[in-house]
Amino acid sequence: MPDVLRWTGDALRFLDQTLLPGETRMLETRDYRAVIDALKRLAIRGAPLIGIAGAYAAVLAARALRECAPAAFREQASLALAEISAARPTAVNLAWAMGQCQALVSTTDDPANCTLQLENLAAALHADDARRCESIGQYGAIIIPEGAGVVTHCNAGALATGGEGTAIAVILAAHRQGKGIHVFVDETRPLLQGARLTMWELLRHEVPATLITDGMAASLMREGRIQVAITGADRIAANGDTANKIGTYALAVAAKYHRVPFYIAAPLSTLDLALPDGNAIPIEHRDESEVTSLQGIRTAPEGARACNPAFDITPGELITGIVTERGIIAPPWDETLAAIVS
Ligand code: MRU
Repeated sequence: MPDVLRWTGDALRFLDQTLLPGETRMLETRDYRAVIDALKRLAIRGAPLIGIAGAYAAVLAARALRECAPAAFREQASLALAEISAARPTAVNLAWAMGQCQALVSTTDDPANCTLQLENLAAALHADDARRCESIGQYGAIIIPEGAGVVTHCNAGALATGGEGTAIAVILAAHRQGKGIHVFVDETRPLLQGARLTMWELLRHEVPATLITDGMAASLMREGRIQVAITGADRIAANGDTANKIGTYALAVAAKYHRVPFYIAAPLSTLDLALPDGNAIPIEHRDESEVTSLQGIRTAPEGARACNPAFDITPGELITGIVTERGIIAPPWDETLAAIVS
């Protein structure tokens, strides 16, 4: 597995995920705006990784300002943090990481020292997320029955986190325990994170997997070929409503109808318990061209309009359990989510 994201000491090196699976090209930058651009075009993506990359972008912004007087540093670094935070609105991990950076910036009288503190923070968030992924895998393996067909949506693996992933960490743990599982991977239109990224990861780990189009999962459930569904998350509200890649809601509805348990795997950094429910979660809307074309080739007639919400909200009542780094929780969400962070 190539490094997905690595701090070199004065630059951020990252894998351009838009080119996978055809090409594994690393990019390197010392400009925080190039990181923002990478986030916006999904060269760096996945909720936990977005937060980590945002923290490194904050380091790059601070390094460029560290000769400034303290007041100017605080003002300009805060503007840069707001700019980074706005790159992608749905995954709370970015706002969560930027909040921690802002706390350092707002209180500093020593720009050079603050820059070092930001660097330490980014490295700590990165390493911490790897540990969270490991625990999620260890706790989560129990939900996957022997010989199960497992469906997942989008990519919640090493390409989306600082470690081996969330949903994919659970799948890998079950696979390594010799459970003989078979994974069905939703291709995940419009940007094909399932086909391009999750299949790429599972093949590298030699996990038996079959690619399906997003519309096929319900039919496979009806045929009894899927025993469990598991995805990652971008933000979880206090009542368990969960934002994740568009299409997750439809998968959860199909799972409910077919009595297939539907799990979310996510670190606690993905919880946003200040929000009462999913209606308060901001949904990113992306360019219509991602829907009217496929990898640059137009598939809809000229003039066709399209809608392109990048995420949807799965109601908490459709979720069987949430696998976190502190264990697996189940409804009632208002009680169990509050308890797990206390
Ligand atoms: O638009 P993306 O590719 O950033 O969306 C990613 C997802 O929806 C993932 O499922 C989610 O971020 C969880 S990653 C552990």
